[in-house]
Amino acid sequence: MQSTEPVTFYDRHPFDWVPPGGSEEIDAVVSRPLAELIQSLDPSLLVLDIGCGAGRVLGVLARRAIRCIGLDRSRVSVGMIVERYHRPGVVGDNLHLPFADGTADVVISDGVIHHTDDPAAAFAENCRILKPAGRMYLAVYKPYGRYPWLYKYPGAVIRIGLRHQWAGPFVAFFAQVPYFLFHFVRAKGRRTWAGARNLFFDYFVTPRVAFLPRTVVEEWCRKHGVRVVLYDENRGGNVHSFCLAKEDRSSAAPDPHKSLAAEVTMAEQRQTA
Ligand SMILES: C[S@@+](CC[C@H](N)C(=O)[O-])C[C@H]1O[C@@H](n2cnc3c(N)ncnc32)[C@H](O)[C@@H]1O
Repeated sequence: MQSTEPVTFYDRHPFDWVPPGGSEEIDAVVSRPLAELIQSLDPSLLVLDIGCGAGRVLGVLARRAIRCIGLDRSRVSVGMIVERYHRPGVVGDNLHLPFADGTADVVISDGVIHHTDDPAAAFAENCRILKPAGRMYLAVYKPYGRYPWLYKYPGAVIRIGLRHQWAGPFVAFFAQVPYFLFHFVRAKGRRTWAGARNLFFDYFVTPRVAFLPRTVVEEWCRKHGVRVVLYDENRGGNVHSFCLAKEDRSSAAPDPHKSLAAEVTMAEQRQTA
């Protein structure tokens, strides 16, 4: 764990809101497509959780004895995963991953590349470290829905407020307390103040956010030889997710019809179920 980087935003506010003991159901902790991917994994495969944060996903992998490594730019977050889950942790940058080409059987990138300086370059790095025929789970912020508006308007007021010490108590009273109560009720009493506070900072205060349309991600996939196996719009949620598979160019020439047939949206599946 070596880094010369100064303290990052997520060192001060790690994305830490899930009890580390694993008391919550997998579906309450990760999205359904990710839960299904994890449940399908052979424990001998190597999973790289890029931008692992405090180990919300890595904890699920560790409890299933799946071989995994967490990487994050936040030294504090990496320290948490190593201490809590006894898995290797790397302090590093998604834009320059310290892994050789084709290292990972599976890459997980859950809510990360939209916080980097260059989401396209972060995605390219994730593809580079993936083995041919390897799989990737990618979740990114949608460009529509309530969150872009919330980040831009109330978020701007909150961010300006937090720059002034005198405004801190107002932000806490008028924004953090209602946010905590909302989450406390929604999580049926299982959200702590500290956990809700970390979510609040990630939601409104995080300094860098990109909203990424499905078409943009699909364009990147074409560029990097990665196929969309499953798309989940996650209606009503802030992020949409993509289950991806890297082409294996060493095997027989890919059948373009097969690729197209496999490209299916979860919404379409639900409609026909
Ligand atoms: C919203 S949190 C998500 C954490 C985790 N993936 C999860 O879903 O619980 C975003 C994480 O991305 C990390 N991050 C942001 N930019 C990064 C970069 N350039 N390289 C590596 N990690 C980065 C942050 O430090 C933070 O822990």
